Amino acid sequence: MKFLFLGDIVGKPGMSAVLQNTQRIREELDLDYVIANAENASDGSGLMPKQFERLIDGGIDGVTLGDHIFRRKEIIRTLEKSDRIVKPANYPDEASGRRWSLVKRGGRRPLAFVSIMGRVFMRPVDCPFKALDEVLAEIEPHTDHILVDVHAEATSDKQCIGRYLDGRVTAVLGTHTHVPTADTCILPSRTAFQCDVGMCGPYESIIGRDIERVTHTTRTAEPCHFHVATGDVRLCGAIVESDAEGRAVKIERFEQRVIVN
Ligand SMILES: [Fe+2]
Ligand SMILES: [Fe+2]
Repeated sequence: MKFLFLGDIVGKPGMSAVLQNTQRIREELDLDYVIANAENASDGSGLMPKQFERLIDGGIDGVTLGDHIFRRKEIIRTLEKSDRIVKPANYPDEASGRRWSLVKRGGRRPLAFVSIMGRVFMRPVDCPFKALDEVLAEIEPHTDHILVDVHAEATSDKQCIGRYLDGRVTAVLGTHTHVPTADTCILPSRTAFQCDVGMCGPYESIIGRDIERVTHTTRTAEPCHFHVATGDVRLCGAIVESDAEGRAVKIERFEQRVIVN
């Protein structure tokens, strides 16, 4: 199996970049599946149902989110209805959405996808390790091919979760910090890992937002709206290849500069 995981889609530039290029990339790279984190799609924060539908129509098989999951409360009905989107598995049981889901195209093996949130420098969530144990037990009868999006601030938090899942899932790939890290590797028991795959959005920015506005607020403590930036739009992610048992055989960083219109 060969799949691409795309990092946080940020605002209009990120959405346009994904929608205008995913089908081409699917064909060029002969991908079985494309999963994307879309927690920043709606003007930089949250995801609207219409945007979710456009992503699915545009060739994204499954969508993960993160701490911005409920910034647009309209997404609740999508989380209740669709099996192509998941909430973080360590969010409260009472929160709308599935803890994991499965995509299956044609005669291909199915790919399960899970989102998990870290706890270092993040708002409180349930224990990620316990949640992952529960979710993996549920997935086990269905498939050996499992992608975990680890949505966390601290690299140590992500490394801990990666090591905890080594040999139990196909890939543990990071999101949330929006900056790609140079640590793509296959862990000893053959789980592909990267602390952060980077965002899909404008890189001439502060993690996707207008440089002047973020700098102004950082210097003065005066709040202002952080517009999504526009320059240097890139698609970033990781491509993982796995064997029939769902163990990783290859991981590569994915990065493409794109012109969006
Ligand atoms: Fe986030
Ligand atoms: Fe994000």
